[in-house]
Amino acid sequence: MNALPKIVLVGLMGSGKSTVARRLATRTGTSAADTDDIIEASEGRTVREIFAEDGEATFRAAETRALESALTSTAGVVAAAGGVVLSEANRALLKRARDDGEAVVVWLRADQSTLVKRAESGDHRPLLDDGADDAMKRMAHERTPLYEEVSDVTVDTDGLTIDEVVELVLAAVPDA
Ligand code: S3P
Repeated sequence: MNALPKIVLVGLMGSGKSTVARRLATRTGTSAADTDDIIEASEGRTVREIFAEDGEATFRAAETRALESALTSTAGVVAAAGGVVLSEANRALLKRARDDGEAVVVWLRADQSTLVKRAESGDHRPLLDDGADDAMKRMAHERTPLYEEVSDVTVDTDGLTIDEVVELVLAAVPDA
């Protein structure tokens, strides 16, 4: 086990998890892992291809394996994709890591307009294809209580730069 708890970032698409994770890892001299990247590497396909070829359920099963792997093998920062909180098994994995003192879970929160704007970049978000605004609204409604449930700390990211968010996370997780 690591002496220091790892930081796990959760939040909706566009909350900045992947970028903040990489910057945090650089800042703290550790490594960053991203559940979407783990899935793409292990499946040999993009997130979009998995959704299109096999459907969301197959993607979600791969996501649970990716989260498990990130939590056991990553020393530093884990960016957990937006939908990780949907599964009770995933929430239990996060709870166990927190209870064991192995992870601090940080919810990167942002307003709807910020999320929609930021989520426009990147090609790995098929759930936004039929209208990002409505989809994001539905997801925020469904997932907000789940992010609250799994996180130790909330960082509001509206109007902040990546570096400002990094500083807030580090202030909230002083042992990192
Ligand atoms: C999803 C979020 C995406 C990706 C997939 C589904 C979700 O990752 O895993 O498109 O359900 O919220 P990011 O949160 O990194 O955008």
